[in-house]
Amino acid sequence: MSTLKFAVLPGDYIGPEVMSEALRVLNHAASAAGLTLDYTFADVGGAGIDNHGQALPASTLQICRNSDAILFGSVGGPKWETLPPKEQPERAALLPLRKAFNLFANIRPGLLYKELTDASPLKSERIPEGIDIVCIRELTGGIYFGQPKTTILLENGEFQAIDTMIYKTSEIERIAEVAAVTAKARGGRVCSVDKANVLETSVLWRKTVIDYFAKNHPELELSHMYVDNAAMQLARDPNQFDVLFTENMFGDILSDEMAVICGSLGMMSSASLGTERNRHGHPFGLYEPAGGTAPDIAGKGVANPCAQILSAAMMMRYSFGHPEIATKIEAAVRKAATVDGYRTGDIAFGQKAVGTKEMTDAVIANLS
Ligand code: IPM
Ligand code: MG
Repeated sequence: MSTLKFAVLPGDYIGPEVMSEALRVLNHAASAAGLTLDYTFADVGGAGIDNHGQALPASTLQICRNSDAILFGSVGGPKWETLPPKEQPERAALLPLRKAFNLFANIRPGLLYKELTDASPLKSERIPEGIDIVCIRELTGGIYFGQPKTTILLENGEFQAIDTMIYKTSEIERIAEVAAVTAKARGGRVCSVDKANVLETSVLWRKTVIDYFAKNHPELELSHMYVDNAAMQLARDPNQFDVLFTENMFGDILSDEMAVICGSLGMMSSASLGTERNRHGHPFGLYEPAGGTAPDIAGKGVANPCAQILSAAMMMRYSFGHPEIATKIEAAVRKAATVDGYRTGDIAFGQKAVGTKEMTDAVIANLS
């Protein structure tokens, strides 16, 4: 199938700015490969609230359902911060989208080019070769979605809030498989992160992961770490990890830590893969930059488009089965930001900073 059909949900603030750049790159890469792109725009987040009264409008959900993947920008910002928490773009758009499409597997590469080690808050001598790890985070279970999840008024007049952390064996096994497949394509090492010294869900997590790997992937090197220690080890020596594998909330926290030690959020892509196969026989997925909407720089043409471009590359790899195109785009970004010296403000460090469009032009030039 040479037509690639996907939904484009740019979102808010810098979302639409970097999205149009990613589409320029994709159009270029696709036409060079003889592929046709068929994409449909839809509002999400604040744009959904403003134009349809809902962060995730039914029409947007329908467009996603009719597609083979979702290319997502970013949502939220000061304009909607006064809304009740449950109605805010992040919670009212992203979490229901993840649930609606069973996007249980979140893949976040922690990649820092060695030429950009200055961008990391870690001392360069700790990461002479840059950083190359990946975080596999379970995304539709755990404390994010477990019921009951509520706030009640006690008889004595004070409030009590409850969140519930739940995991089933099958949920742990399916994400363990993603961690294993990821490790096989890399260094063959998985570090599973939990809090098995305190949490029942973690005790089950660890036992299930041990059994699953012993049975299905005995050739991989599996280790275990408590989440508090993992947070410390990540800051001490990130490259001791190959695949960092964990549950939903631990992954949320650790992947932000990973993002900051890898320099700019402007370079961080992510993929969230579902249980469903699309018409190409690959996982349906949602692809988004790890960073936010950056309201402070929106509209100025200075945002780093690379995270969105790299997310589009991941879409080519995972949902459309074109790893060769993904690799080509990734190499083009890498060369533009290193050898060619094109850098947006977030990664410029004293060098002359280029704008969003110029950065993209440099990437496209490397594709030709
Ligand atoms: C992320 C974000 C989301 C999460 C928020 C926006 C709901 O922090 O994708 O990591 O907590 O999962
Ligand atoms: Mg997060």
